[in-house]
Amino acid sequence: MKMKKSLAVISLILVFSLIISIAAFAESGYAYKEDALNAFAPKWDSIQADDTVISVTPGAVQGEMRFAWLSSKTDTAASFKIAEKSNMSDAEAIEVSTENCDDYNSNKVTVTDLEEGKTYYYSYTENGTWSNPEAVTVQPDENFTVLFVSDAQIGRSGDETQRDVLIRDTCGWEYTVNKMLTEYPNAAFAISGGDQFQSPDSITQMKAYLAPEKLRSLPVANTIGNHDNEAPLYGDIFNNPNEVDELFADEAGTGYYYTYGDTLFIMLNSNNDFMFDAAKVIRTAVNAHPDAKWRVVTMHHNPYSAAFSDDEFSDKRLYFSSLCDCYDIDLVLSGHDHFYSRTKVMNSGKEAEEGTVYVQSSSASGSNYDPLPETLPSYTVTAFDVRVPTYTAFTFTDNAIIGTTYRTDNDEVIDSFEITDNASDTNTNIFSIAISFIKTLFSMI
Ligand SMILES: [Fe+2]
Repeated sequence: MKMKKSLAVISLILVFSLIISIAAFAESGYAYKEDALNAFAPKWDSIQADDTVISVTPGAVQGEMRFAWLSSKTDTAASFKIAEKSNMSDAEAIEVSTENCDDYNSNKVTVTDLEEGKTYYYSYTENGTWSNPEAVTVQPDENFTVLFVSDAQIGRSGDETQRDVLIRDTCGWEYTVNKMLTEYPNAAFAISGGDQFQSPDSITQMKAYLAPEKLRSLPVANTIGNHDNEAPLYGDIFNNPNEVDELFADEAGTGYYYTYGDTLFIMLNSNNDFMFDAAKVIRTAVNAHPDAKWRVVTMHHNPYSAAFSDDEFSDKRLYFSSLCDCYDIDLVLSGHDHFYSRTKVMNSGKEAEEGTVYVQSSSASGSNYDPLPETLPSYTVTAFDVRVPTYTAFTFTDNAIIGTTYRTDNDEVIDSFEITDNASDTNTNIFSIAISFIKTLFSMI
């Protein structure tokens, strides 16, 4: 009888553990089939052996590209060259800026004056050995397409120290990268809305995020998410242009900006709630490019999240959206909530004729999804509640920003829209911002 009782207890514990593990795992959801995972898994060891994987980032303007990679602390002569010929016989050496960090060296390169329509080949030293050449192409800056993803968050689907968890998430991320570049092979660059990896100081996860081979040729502008901000690794592996000094900068870094054609892209660190820092980044960017046709902000937290709650988003809405109202931001790109959503045109807390559209990306890898609220806020036009990774392609034309959002498992379009409000009646004095702030505050009461 005693034995039977303990067996029953053990059985109950096992069943309970199984329910817990199923519930935990159910929060992830990948687009790939099992055979894709089986094909990907054998690459894991070589991905992790590549300590010097390189990141490519958009430059300050169209003809600029930026690169960064880590190397060992004994590597004192990191080098980089770029050529027009694939055999690199015409290569030009570009100066490398090397910073001695605690556990590694961080190497950064900025290449300028690249010509539209041309393909270039670059190579760099991986702890003393030249890498194989990789190609980058400068895409046109008219009617160009930018691919938007967020929260690849490698390691989020379970115990991030476990190899199989990391392999699944990385396979999901690579699947999305390949999907969107199959659909848009001539995309100018991509934007990631933050939470690139689960732990801010995990070099293992960083190498996994950069693992997709196509990322050697696709510049990606990364955002500081709440999983990135508390360690310097983000700033060591991404070479962002035009970083703006902030009073309350995080360890990961600050906001930054760049242009592509007539569009100004402003990347904020929304972990920093000091409104004057965000205002400084936006003001600096707008003053540097006052005539940009379109203004796009990327910030990890969505001020108009469909999962709005007083705890997490009310201050973000007050601080950040008031600035977007007054600086005539056309489009805000976010992540954080791990489901796709898009708002109406918003201004001062209400739907408006002229204002800002807020688009939030789902998980780029499938590593985690948050549940949709039972009732969507009135400002949400659409929200996608299927546990499938998505991405949005934005094409910037003279007359509109055209957005098309895809689920990656079957390529179905789940949202398509155009943003045509291009008024440039910027009201950036302190009174205009205060009025927008107060109106937004009252809209939330
Ligand atoms: Fe996230």
